[in-house]
Amino acid sequence: MDKFVIRGGNKLEGEVTISGAKNATLALMPATLLAPGNYSLYNTPELNDVYTMMKLLTHLGVAAEFRDNLLKLNTDNIISQDAPYEHVKKMRASVYVLGPLLARFGLAKVSLPGGCSWGPRPINLHLEGLKKMGADIELSGGYIIAKSPRLHGSKISFDISSVGATGNILMAAVLAKGESSIINAAIEPEIINLVCFLEKMGARIEGIGTPNLHIEGVDELKSADIDTIPDRIEAGTILIAAAITRGKVKLNNIKAELLLSILNKLENSGCNLIYNNEYIEIDGVNNNINPIDVTTSAFPGFPTDMQAQWTAYMALASGVSTVTDTIYLDRFKHVPELQRLGASITINENSAIIKGVKKLMGAKVMSTDLRASASLVLAGLAAQGTTEVLRVYHLDRGYQRIEEKLKFLGADIERVEGKEF
Ligand code: EPU
Repeated sequence: MDKFVIRGGNKLEGEVTISGAKNATLALMPATLLAPGNYSLYNTPELNDVYTMMKLLTHLGVAAEFRDNLLKLNTDNIISQDAPYEHVKKMRASVYVLGPLLARFGLAKVSLPGGCSWGPRPINLHLEGLKKMGADIELSGGYIIAKSPRLHGSKISFDISSVGATGNILMAAVLAKGESSIINAAIEPEIINLVCFLEKMGARIEGIGTPNLHIEGVDELKSADIDTIPDRIEAGTILIAAAITRGKVKLNNIKAELLLSILNKLENSGCNLIYNNEYIEIDGVNNNINPIDVTTSAFPGFPTDMQAQWTAYMALASGVSTVTDTIYLDRFKHVPELQRLGASITINENSAIIKGVKKLMGAKVMSTDLRASASLVLAGLAAQGTTEVLRVYHLDRGYQRIEEKLKFLGADIERVEGKEF
């Protein structure tokens, strides 16, 4: 369990390249189960969650080779339809194998993902959708056991926009018999990346980029290659690192259209930005850190995955702001840790009310989940003195060597390897 030691105060300056999106890769990888053959997934980020998904796919019989952000998979010899607890407990996105295994093999046994560090994250929409497509689903011994000789097309209407349920149902529907529609489908860029991949594999999908997808099931698909889109959350996190240290940074390999809601909020907070669909430049040198409220919502709204980072940023604002999470009502594990650094934050239901302070002071803080850890790193970059962020394995799940990128931009941050942290 490594830790980061950060001596705060350095302004970030320079250029970095954004890696591929975690949440896109985690949907693209299981989609390869839908058809035998060779796949190349370009721009795959080197993350622990990707290695976890690789282990799960390897357990199912997939052959995998991963080097220099190119992930090669071969799905000719699938030997199991069983995703065991030991894999799924490490990462909820493992449940993505359910739709493709069931659609191609008529059987899937997938461990129930269980709770998450910040509260319940149900998968009822995944299961109800598959049932509507004719799957026989039984919950037994902590497992979802899903069976159907051949799924049939259906109209599936989601009450809530869900990234995971849209991905799972989509992967099931492309091989189902007949036509399906998904109403209120998620339109997150990572889902669009998946739709593009499925189309390259021969799937027939209409309505790409809209909340109404229409799918005409086919008898079989073929293997294909795909470029993973850039990670909008990594980009947003590094932009806040520049803004909070009053630095000036250019991000390459990023499309502004992926994160306009974040860019807009950063501009309102007092940063100057130049952006297009190749790069984003942020100039926070004269940043006043105006207090700016955010409320998370599904894409294209402000992402819940940036809520903790924005809270850390607003901890140093010149006034009071409110950050409300409407996607995950309890996602505030970072708040007590930010308070240890001197932040003045109170929680009221699903909102954090943040009274900006003049300075944060370094301390030892504990990572509790991926984005919470990112917020602690951001606070540490701006705090006076030394901050130790313990248990950074959470960060390694979703950021490709973030400390190297930050160090390259001038941050005083180092990873200390060890067991005791
Ligand atoms: N929901 C249900 N029932 C379901 C599914 C979802 O009630 O069957 C609810 C959730 O509880 C939540 C809302 O619907 O309130 C949206 O959840 P969603 O299903 O969209 O989340 P997810 O697919 O489990 C993905 C990302 C998360 C990200 C959310 C929201 C992946 C692998 N994970 O999760 O990413 O927070 O969408 O955008 O794509 C992260 O990267 O740190 C992360 C947690």
